[in-house]
Amino acid sequence: SPPAIIAPSILSADFAALGRACADTISQGADWLHVDIMDGHFVPNMTFGAPVVTKIRPHVDRPSGAYGKGTFDCHMMIAEPKRWVKDFQAAGCDLYCFHYEAAIDSTAADSPSATSTAKTSPKELIAYIHGLGMQAGIAIKPKTPVDVLWDILENPVAEERPDMVLIMTVEPGFGGQSFMASELPKVAALRQKYPDLNIEVDGGLSEKTIDQAADAGANVIVAGSAVFGAKDPGEVIQKLREAVDG
Ligand code: DX5
Ligand code: ZN
Repeated sequence: SPPAIIAPSILSADFAALGRACADTISQGADWLHVDIMDGHFVPNMTFGAPVVTKIRPHVDRPSGAYGKGTFDCHMMIAEPKRWVKDFQAAGCDLYCFHYEAAIDSTAADSPSATSTAKTSPKELIAYIHGLGMQAGIAIKPKTPVDVLWDILENPVAEERPDMVLIMTVEPGFGGQSFMASELPKVAALRQKYPDLNIEVDGGLSEKTIDQAADAGANVIVAGSAVFGAKDPGEVIQKLREAVDG
């Protein structure tokens, strides 16, 4: 697997002091910030949108390389993912990770706010994200089989291929849920075919569950409550990293 990338989810940070929380977690050793965007439609919870990302971005240095320290890894738990790409690029998002289920959902076109961007193919959306200078990620929920990703990953056109795959290890929507080990065969199947792919796991990761995820081949580790709920977040970040890097 590629080296560990530890991405604390700021969903569990103090929203009243979010800029400071972002800067602190980076200085405690985090590589990326995982930014959970929820619209109350794709998932039954809401967080915040591009205006908040714009305000917190200056609190953390922009990454120097594609996957550098300080990468804003925006996990878009939203319907109509194509609609918000430009706003998030302008806000300082570095990696725009959309849900496969939202990209292919034709029912999104029935919403009153529907635009021609409501339905899009994953490969078109990935190329569009790349065209705006961001990395592209594709996420799947627990009920979605990993098989939907093979065509997308095997695409010979480089700009249509994702830079990262996110395997959800909880139902998206809330922090602090229990880790679903049932999702790890998806990670192992991906890792077997793609030794160099960034494979992210999100939901219920902690010192207790990290070994299983690392053994399956995950290298990008999201952790919300385990990091922000810790007395010593730096120590948790270090332990997660050691479990992946060995
Ligand atoms: C859940 C979010 C996660 C969440 C993880 O929908 O996508 O990023 O913050 O929180 P923990 O690590 O507490 O499960
Ligand atoms: Zn997330």
